[in-house]
Amino acid sequence: MTDRPEIIFASLGADPEAMCVVLVGDDVVLGPRASELDSRSGGAIGKAVEAAQFKGKKKSTAELLAPPRIGISRLLLIGLGKAADLKESDWVTLGGAAAGAISARKVKTASLIVDAAGASEAKAETIAALLAFGAALRLYEFSKYQTKKGYDEDNAAPNSLKKLVIQCANPEKARAAFARYEAVANGVIIARDLVNEPANVLGPIEFAERVGELEKVGVEVEIFDADQIAELKMGALLAVAQGSVRPARVAIMHWHGAKSKRAKPLAFIGKGVVFDTGGISIKPSAGMEDMKGDMGGAACVVGLMHALGERKANVNAIGIIGLVENMPSGTATRPGDIVTSYSGQTVEVLNTDAEGRLVLGDLISYVQDRFKPRLIIDLATLTGAIMVALGKEYAGLFVNDDKLASELLDASSVTGEKLWRMPLDNAFDKMIESKNADIKNLGGRWAGACTAAAFLKSFVKDTPWAHIDLAGTAMDAPKSEINPSWGSGWGVRLLDRFIADRYEK
Ligand code: BES
Ligand code: MN
Ligand code: ZN
Repeated sequence: MTDRPEIIFASLGADPEAMCVVLVGDDVVLGPRASELDSRSGGAIGKAVEAAQFKGKKKSTAELLAPPRIGISRLLLIGLGKAADLKESDWVTLGGAAAGAISARKVKTASLIVDAAGASEAKAETIAALLAFGAALRLYEFSKYQTKKGYDEDNAAPNSLKKLVIQCANPEKARAAFARYEAVANGVIIARDLVNEPANVLGPIEFAERVGELEKVGVEVEIFDADQIAELKMGALLAVAQGSVRPARVAIMHWHGAKSKRAKPLAFIGKGVVFDTGGISIKPSAGMEDMKGDMGGAACVVGLMHALGERKANVNAIGIIGLVENMPSGTATRPGDIVTSYSGQTVEVLNTDAEGRLVLGDLISYVQDRFKPRLIIDLATLTGAIMVALGKEYAGLFVNDDKLASELLDASSVTGEKLWRMPLDNAFDKMIESKNADIKNLGGRWAGACTAAAFLKSFVKDTPWAHIDLAGTAMDAPKSEINPSWGSGWGVRLLDRFIADRYEK
């Protein structure tokens, strides 16, 4: 695997690397360090600004090759637009854009000079940290299986960058401010790696092993094997796993960061279907390869728990994920089978491709029984229908509590991971009533995302609960300045921010 580039902070006065990016606001006034480089080079930067008619518009660029006397071979100006108006997420996006411009030039090292005058009220070190955060997210690459592209000195790999130096007024403070963002970036990257990994490599057992690595950041990990899951009578979850030769796992991650060890935890539940063929109700073959990403919810929970541990969040949180493979075989669940869930509620399985809700239903019941959580948030690539409704920019949010809804929507508007609230309604509960069992796992032709949510709701007992359907956003979402990857790591930043703003104070 290619090593990730290192991101370090240095003073403004340090000698810039041969590739150097300078941020400039729409007043086109150079900051102190850039002005100094400009005068040493005999006004080369100012002349280039004129010649290129560079106005400092947001994300516009102008490039100088080999400006004289300053030891820089490429100097790239990137516009900030109205620097005073930039919000947190704008700085993150700009950091991503700068990193993208740098890696496109296939250099090994680069400097990003952060000295623009008139930047927003945020402290200079916070801005440097946010830029570094965006760069870390952008510089991600999943290339471990590309062994024959022939990358060498002349044909550099997409990310040939080894080191990015952020030059700013107070590098020590910036480094300290970056620590929490770096923890979150690492969480996002863990989630992306899990989603990108093919299912032959990442079965339930291997996934559970990766969860074990969270112990390095102080998260306690408990893994249940198939016998233990059977002893707990998680009959719905096991009905999904039973067609596969690879046995199920349930992984539980415990983070005790609150001052009181006994403070009720927040619970995060993830759908971890390592591959979803549909089972006996098999999916069409075109595009089925994408179903290696049907564990995007579980990946998000793992990434989040990593971030909480690494940044030592002041909260108690539980992450729990159900790891199964949905396969057709002689031992697979059949349409029409009736299974008994952990809660005792019986479920008629009318379509074995509606499997995620079976996994989540058991985990929702279990988490309430064992942990009495303050709230529950589940994440799942649950339905194609959510993409029909919302496309691939928004995840669907179903929530039984208005306060929780607004807390999540607030966090969403800070991080830019978009959520749209969807309805829970008694009418949808009616659509999953079964003639032969307590409920059925299929709602009929319409409102597929809503009847799936209604199914999950039937396992929730008097606890604030949110269900996030991220089928559209967890994988194959539109690329952005901060996400170059198929597996996006969507939701890690959102939930980290939700916790930091509302549950750590
Ligand atoms: N994992 C799929 C949903 C999905 C589809 C996620 C495409 C990402 C991309 C889920 O298990 C599923 O198959 N849902 C069915 C439910 C139906 C059978 C009621 C669907 O959405 O078609
Ligand atoms: Mn399915
Ligand atoms: Zn699925």
